[in-house]
Amino acid sequence: MEIQASLLELNKVVDYLQITLPSNAIVFLRGDLAAGKTTLTQAIAKEKGIEGEVTSPTFSLQQCYAAKDGSHLYHYDLYRLDHDEFMQLGLFEEFEKEGWHMVEWGSDALKAFLEGVGYNVVTIDIEPSNNSRIYRIINAYT
Ligand SMILES: Nc1ncnc2c1ncn2[C@@H]1O[C@H](COP(=O)(O)OP(=O)(O)O)[C@@H](O)[C@H]1O
Ligand SMILES: [Mg+2]
Repeated sequence: MEIQASLLELNKVVDYLQITLPSNAIVFLRGDLAAGKTTLTQAIAKEKGIEGEVTSPTFSLQQCYAAKDGSHLYHYDLYRLDHDEFMQLGLFEEFEKEGWHMVEWGSDALKAFLEGVGYNVVTIDIEPSNNSRIYRIINAYT
C-alpha cells in the first residue's frame, strides 16, 4: 500500500494501520534523518488518545506509552545500537509485549532475526515529497 500524506493528512496513514494491523505488531520505520519516522509515531499516539509529548527515544532506546483504551504503544530508536548489542541487552523480548512496537533505525539483521523466530514485521518506507511524504507500507497481514 502506498499513501501520500502531508502533516495534516497523517490520519490517512494511521487509519490504514488501525484497520490492517493486529493489536500486537512490530513496525519498522525506514527513511533518512528527518523523513518523518517520529512524526508518524506521534500521529499514532494522538489517534490512540495518548496524552503528553512523544519524543524521539534517542537516549532511552525504548519508550512505552499507555493509551486510554488500555493498549500500549512502544517506540524505539536503535540508531546507536548494533545488532549484537541489541541481542545482548535482551531487548527483543520486549516485542512479546502486547501493543504496537514502532522501531526507528531497526537493522536488516534485526528484521531477519525477528522473522526467523516467527514474528511478522511490517515495514513503512518514508520518502519526502515536497511538503508531504510517501508512505510505502509492506504489511504481511494484508
Ligand atoms: N507527512 C509529512 N508531511 C510534511 N512534513 C512532515 C511529514 N512528516 C514529518 N514531517 C516533518 O519532517 C520533519 C522531520 O520529522 P521527524 O519525524 O522528526 O523525522 P525522523 O524521525 O524520521 O528523523 C519535521 O519537521 C516534521 O514536521
Ligand atoms: Mg526520529
